[in-house]
Order: sequence, then C-alpha cells, then structure tokens
Amino acid sequence: MTPPQRPAGIDVVSEALADLYRRCRDLDQGEVADYIPQLALADPDCFGLALVSMDGHRYQAGDSRTGFTLQSVTKPFVLALALAELGTDPVGRRVGCEPSGEAFNAISLDPVTGRPANPMINAGAIAVTALVPAADPGERFARILDCLGRFAGRRLEVDEAVYRSEAETGDRNRALAYLMRGTGALAGDPAEAVDTYFRQCSVRATVEDLAVMAATLGNGGVNPVTGEAVVPEPVAVQVLAVMATCGMYDAAGEWMLRVGLPAKSGVSGGLVAVAPARFGVAVHSPRLDRVGNPVRGVAVLRELSERFGLHLM
Ligand code: DON
Repeated sequence: MTPPQRPAGIDVVSEALADLYRRCRDLDQGEVADYIPQLALADPDCFGLALVSMDGHRYQAGDSRTGFTLQSVTKPFVLALALAELGTDPVGRRVGCEPSGEAFNAISLDPVTGRPANPMINAGAIAVTALVPAADPGERFARILDCLGRFAGRRLEVDEAVYRSEAETGDRNRALAYLMRGTGALAGDPAEAVDTYFRQCSVRATVEDLAVMAATLGNGGVNPVTGEAVVPEPVAVQVLAVMATCGMYDAAGEWMLRVGLPAKSGVSGGLVAVAPARFGVAVHSPRLDRVGNPVRGVAVLRELSERFGLHLM
C-alpha cells in the first residue's frame, strides 16, 4: 500500500519555520512587559511559531503549545464581531480608522468628533468592546469569548490571575473610558466596558490557536480547520485593512515598508500576520521592542516576507 500523498510544499514550510526558529532564537534584545505584574512573570526565552494554510494544514516550531494571554491581539477579532453584528457605519460613528502614529495607550481622541483614532489602540478597542450587542456585561463577554473560540477552532479560557492583575493596574484604561464617555465615543458604562476589555485581554491561547485565528481572517472569515464561517467575508477584509494600517502602533509604517502584511501585536509577546488567501502565521516571544512589538516576532516576519516575497504591494 502506498502512503497518502503529502501536499507539495509541506516540507518547505516546515523547514522554513524550523530555520526561522533557529536563526531568531538567540535574539535577546527587548524587555518583557512589566506594567501588569502578572505579565512580568513570563519566561523571556519562550519562543513559538505556527502557520496555518488556507487548506487547514498546520505547521509549528519551538514552544508552540505554551499558553499566554492574547492581550491586544484580541482587538482585530473583537472588531470583526462588532462589524459583523452592527455594520461599518455604526462602528465608524464611535471609532475612526486612521493610524495614530502614537503608542498603544495614547489618548488619541479626535478633537472634533471625540472618536479614538482606530480600533487597534486601547481607546478604540475599549469603544469597540462596549459596542458588542448584549443584554448585560456577562453576556457581552460570553459572546466575545465564544467568538474568539470560533476563530481559534476551540473553546478558549480566561487567565484569572492576569485578569485580576490587569484590573488592579488598569487606571489609564479606565481614564480613557471615562474620557470617551465624555466625548460620546463610548456606548454604556465606562467601568463595565473596561472590565470586559480586561477580561478580553486575559483570554489565554497558544501560538497554534493564534495561527488558526489569523488564517480565518485570511480565508474570508471561514475557519480553514473547522470549516465554520465565523464572520462574513467583507468583514474579514475590513479587519485586515485596519490591521494593515494600524496594527503595529507607532511602527505601522515601518512594518508596512519592510513586511507588507496585515498584522497585530500584543504586550505579552503575541504577533499575528496574514497573507490573504495564503496563510495565517503567529509568533510568541515575550521580549518587546521600544514601541511594544515583540523583537523575535518582528524579525521572523521580516525574514519570512523577504524569503517568500509576501509583501502585498
Ligand atoms: O490595555 C492594556 O494595557 C493591555 N491589557 C493590552 C495592551 C496591549 O497588548 C497593547 N499591545 N501592544
């Protein structure tokens, strides 16, 4: 009996990930985020990579099964939920879609409209979280958690210790939420909105989960592993557009120049990038550069993009 055929390219991708892992694992610049005490406990040397193709093949290298909290990497996926539920204009009335050129926690509120610059910075993400339709905050978070799980293809959980740590140290986010209620950008109660946002940031997953989530966006909103249509295709396209322009904070321009893919980073060291209609890729490595992007994640994506000519332009 002949063995089942392996699709062409599997070995090339596995070898490329293993090679990138070897070449980038010795990069030891950058610092683990410590403004949330629980995040400071992360192993700085943890390093995992995963890639999921549009036909649902999964590839990984390094510590790809280590759980970590997704933090800001949840922002595009919750934006997708809000856009799918409400449509472009109702979301756009509360939050803009322009790169801020500022840090993730900046007070980037438009002086005329009062809206946060975009949904990838904290202010914009808090406004988006508050928009998710629900009868009460418990139901709102349950819907967010359910949606993140459908993107990942499995049920995800909250890291309660990180959630408590976020809540204890999150005064800047609370201040942003109250400011936004003042400007009309925030729907509902600021304390509830921020609490839901803290829970959302504390959702735990692996880099393998994240690669499936990224691949779902790149596959027009259909999870390539489970086959479920998580969000409509136009929503997935809009989210990728916002990631392309705003996903890497004040390094978004440099990222587009050198990597050229929609992406999103988070302070626990997660990074997702999407090659639309090709694959989703994720890296986890907790050491961050000065703008808060993971040093090894950025290095891996730069090299992957260059080696395989992935730049979208
Ligand atoms: O809002 C915060 O401070 C965090 N919980 C999430 C921020 C984050 O991941 C920003 N990313 N670089």
